[in-house]
Amino acid sequence: MRLEPRRAPLRGGRHCILREIAREDAAAQLELERAIVRARHGIVKHEDELPADAAAYAEQRDRAGLTATDGSALCLAAELEGVGLAGEVTLLRLRPRMVHHVGILGLGVHPEAQGLGVGRALLERMLEWARAHRDADGGRVLRVELYVRADNGRAIALYLSVGFAHEGTRRGFVRADDGTFVDDLIMGLSLAPVDDAPAFRR
Ligand SMILES: CC(C)(COP(=O)(O)OP(=O)(O)OC[C@H]1O[C@@H](n2cnc3c(N)ncnc32)[C@H](O)[C@@H]1OP(=O)(O)O)[C@@H](O)C(=O)NCCC(=O)NCCS
Repeated sequence: MRLEPRRAPLRGGRHCILREIAREDAAAQLELERAIVRARHGIVKHEDELPADAAAYAEQRDRAGLTATDGSALCLAAELEGVGLAGEVTLLRLRPRMVHHVGILGLGVHPEAQGLGVGRALLERMLEWARAHRDADGGRVLRVELYVRADNGRAIALYLSVGFAHEGTRRGFVRADDGTFVDDLIMGLSLAPVDDAPAFRR
C-alpha cells in the first residue's frame, strides 16, 4: 500500500473509504465494471467484451500496466459501507520517457451509487496524488488527459468543475447502441503550478 485509506464525506451524511485497489479486488472490480456497462450510460463497451472472470480481468490489468507500483499507475477504489466497491478511478502514465509526464484517467461509479459524490471524491483524491507524486528521479505527472463521450453531460460537468479543458473532439468516435455515431471529447488538465511551469513550445 502506498496511500493511506481515507474517509471522504458524501451527500446525505454518508461517507466512503478511498483506498488503493488490491489484487484481491479483481472480482469486485469486474462486477463493478459489469454493472456500469449494463447501465449503458457513458460507456464505450459491451458486456461481452469484458474479461470472462476475475483471473482474466486481473491479467488484463497487469498487461495494461495498471498494477505497477513504481508510480506509473494508480488505481483507487471507493468503498461504501454495506455496498462494497462503489467506484474506481485509474491513472495510467504513458510509458515512453518523452510522454511519461502524461497520465490517462478513467473513472466509473456503480449505477446505484451515482449522484452521491463518489465520482468527485475519487477524482479529487487522484488529482491530489498526481500533484504530490514524485518519481525516484524527480519526474512527475504534469498533464492528465481523459476521453469522454460528448453525450455524457454529467461526467463533462464534473471534469470541467475540477479544471479540465475541452481540447479536442473525435468526430463520430463511438457507435451508440441505436447505431448512431457519437463524438468523443479529449479533455486535459495541466498540473504544473504557474511559477513552476515548464516552457511549453509549439
Ligand atoms: C460520471 C460519473 C463518474 C460521475 O460520478 P458520480 O458519483 O455519479 O458523480 P458525483 O455525485 O460525484 O457528482 C459530481 C458532479 O457530477 C455532476 N452531476 C452529478 N449528477 C448529475 C446529474 N444528475 N446531472 C448533471 N450533472 C450531474 C455535477 O457536476 C456534480 O457536481 P457537484 O458535486 O457540484 O454536484 C458516474 O456517473 C459514472 O460512472 N457514470 C457512468 C460511467 C461514466 O460515464 N464514466 C465516465 C467516463 S469518461
